[in-house]
Amino acid sequence: MTAAPRLPGLGALPGPPARRGDGHLGEWARRPLPLLEEGARRAREEGRDLFRLRLGLPAVVGISPAWNRLLLTDLATFRSAGSFPRLVPYLAGGVVVLDAPEHRPRRQALVPAFGPQAMHALRARTAAALEGCPLPHGDFDALAWADRTVRTLLNAAYFSGEFPDPLLHAFLAPLRRPFPVPALPRPLLFGRVDAELRRLARRRGAQGDDLLAVLARLPGGLEEARVSLAAAHDTTTHALAYALWLLAQHPEWHAPEHHPAVLKETLRLFPPGWIGSRRLARDLDHGGVRLPRGALALYSPYLSGRDPGLWSAPEDFRPARWQAKPPAWAYLPFGGGERLCLGLHLAQLLILVVLAAVPPLQAVRGDAAPVAAVTLGPRGPLIVRRRG
Ligand code: HEM
Repeated sequence: MTAAPRLPGLGALPGPPARRGDGHLGEWARRPLPLLEEGARRAREEGRDLFRLRLGLPAVVGISPAWNRLLLTDLATFRSAGSFPRLVPYLAGGVVVLDAPEHRPRRQALVPAFGPQAMHALRARTAAALEGCPLPHGDFDALAWADRTVRTLLNAAYFSGEFPDPLLHAFLAPLRRPFPVPALPRPLLFGRVDAELRRLARRRGAQGDDLLAVLARLPGGLEEARVSLAAAHDTTTHALAYALWLLAQHPEWHAPEHHPAVLKETLRLFPPGWIGSRRLARDLDHGGVRLPRGALALYSPYLSGRDPGLWSAPEDFRPARWQAKPPAWAYLPFGGGERLCLGLHLAQLLILVVLAAVPPLQAVRGDAAPVAAVTLGPRGPLIVRRRG
């Protein structure tokens, strides 16, 4: 018997033009979306579902539903250890960076705190907190308003509104900035946040039904609270800001019965989690090439949501498309498989509570071009006013 011939390596894959010296790193830091789009275009041209990037490490980006499914379901091969969240201290902790076999039990311990039933209990609390965030009169920036509002609602959901807002703001603000700002260590700031979390948790004792009270009863719960807050804030803010902007342009969709489809369509076009990363724990043969152990393996909810082979008129805002089921493993704004976003229900609750309370809006002017840093969001501002 002859051994199967060894497949070619990453060099056989197409990729966007790289610069001598830093490969794709410079472009990745400055303008990753055009780089991804160019890579996807070249992969499609060659009939492949992978393209290559040089990001200091060998990296591959997969663009097919089959790749998304593989990456999101084979947790033994596609590991979180050594992937992007490790580079951002805000996200480098808790369930986000655990791998099998530790990931599953930690995740199962956390799920009840963020499950649909727990969210039901939080609905009244967040709706009440929203009354403290009135819509400004006249022209206002929907992005800045969404930012304040989501911070206030998260404060209500996690801490019954007791976390000092200036500290919460100081903690979250660097996340929004371009790299390397979010990746810098901030021991003093994190220390102050942790001290406040401990103080609030002590005050709750065995009582309380906000998220902090529930998380504080779990091992590592305070770290989970800090990391999940960071994972929650910009993602939810950007999704809400885009939804408000799109509704201001398409007022016929601004009705509670349409909001779930509006949110889905918003997240298809502008997924705040625009890229997901893993490291390969072993050599892997895929699409006619051998991907080496240690390579970065990426999937992109942004590319998948706009793939012209999977969606009709992918660039258009068409909430009506959600009357049908989306193609499998093509719609991944919350990821998928065992690492599906833990805060999916919380994000949906907050955004839908806000949309239900917002009067009809009119777009005045703005720059909604997506900018991808830790999360994808509009360049802004997004100036709107009440209609009528
Ligand atoms: C619209 C808002 C949100 C979006 C678009 C979003 C997106 C995502 C995505 C794409 C992933 C998977 C990443 C991967 O596969 O590498 C993820 C995971 C995660 N998200 Fe969210 N997220 C949102 C809101 C939230 C909120 C509100 C929380 C608060 C709890 C949260 C906490 C997490 C955590 C802890 C994980 C890691 C889960 C694990 O690895 O088991 N997210 N999110």
